[in-house]
Amino acid sequence: MYNDKKVVFSGVQPSGNLTIGNYLGAIRNFSAFSEEYHCYYCVVDMHAITVRQIPAELRKRTYETLALYMACGLDPQKNTLFVQSHVPQHAELGWILDCYTMFGELSRMTQFKDKSAKNADNINAGLFTYPSLMAADILLYQTELVPVGSDQKQHLELARDIANRFNQIYGETFVVPDGYITKDGARIMSLQEPAKKMSKSDANENAVVRILDSKDDIIKKFKRAVTDSGNEIIHGEGKEGITNLLNIYTCFTGKTIEEAEKEFAGKGYGEFKLAVGEVCADSLAPVRDEFARLMADKAYLEQVMAQGAESAYRHARRTMSKVRRKIGFTELKH
Ligand code: TYM
Repeated sequence: MYNDKKVVFSGVQPSGNLTIGNYLGAIRNFSAFSEEYHCYYCVVDMHAITVRQIPAELRKRTYETLALYMACGLDPQKNTLFVQSHVPQHAELGWILDCYTMFGELSRMTQFKDKSAKNADNINAGLFTYPSLMAADILLYQTELVPVGSDQKQHLELARDIANRFNQIYGETFVVPDGYITKDGARIMSLQEPAKKMSKSDANENAVVRILDSKDDIIKKFKRAVTDSGNEIIHGEGKEGITNLLNIYTCFTGKTIEEAEKEFAGKGYGEFKLAVGEVCADSLAPVRDEFARLMADKAYLEQVMAQGAESAYRHARRTMSKVRRKIGFTELKH
């Protein structure tokens, strides 16, 4: 089954309500691979607990993330949709790869530095080894391609380094994965601090547009978006706010930046921000409707979860048996 097709893998943390950054940078690109590749799309709940979570909310968001995958167009018959903690090989390979990942490498990860600064009272070992668990996610399925936003580039590089290191010691074991980072959408910025990426855990709700926000909220947030003191709708340095809005506008309309600049030449910021809000809200409306329909059918979501875990488990088990043999673990004979 998975022998004849190359593999795509990606993951999303169920650690907050997903944003248009998650959508434009990652999820909406996922379905393009479904025909040509064997696709694994994972809800990475084990990564989410590197930051303290409220258990009931984590559980709810895990269902929601799975439903959002489907609402964004991922057919569970054509893609393996599953939850990370349902496939124990992620933890198993994660531990093994910890032993092939250097302290210095992990110390250099900018996400670790950012998250430690934000969670100073909970700088746990899992937060530190987060990237080797992510490498395990990817390498477990012999992944060729990993579609992500540009903030995951450093983690991906490390996953490649770990795979190469392991292969050098033990001979070909893992496929060395490539990142797939789209040109537009790869880095959607905060609406309030456009020098910062839009993040689902931002405390300022006005900074973040969520996929499931109502049309009114979306428009309100875009109207309040920080711009600059000029009045021209053009992209470039010193115009980070407008550049971000132009980028969001082009992602939703398929127009180029130049086309959008021409369209809004001579128009005011207010009119432009309203247009961005409208196109964003209207594009997401079908996702919101489909999400509501799916969330009303928990039994179906559980069936998708079970089917996904089963399919992922079968593939993961094969890689693990190869890894265990290579590193010299004994086999249990019955
Ligand atoms: P997470 O949950 O933070 O984000 C999920 C995906 O959304 C992308 N993304 C963005 N893209 C553009 N602009 C933004 N503002 C923005 N914010 C987030 C992320 O790049 C990501 O693709 N470590 C990963 C989860 C993970 C994973 C994996 C990904 C765990 N194991 C294996 C790929 C392969 C993360 O924290 O994503």
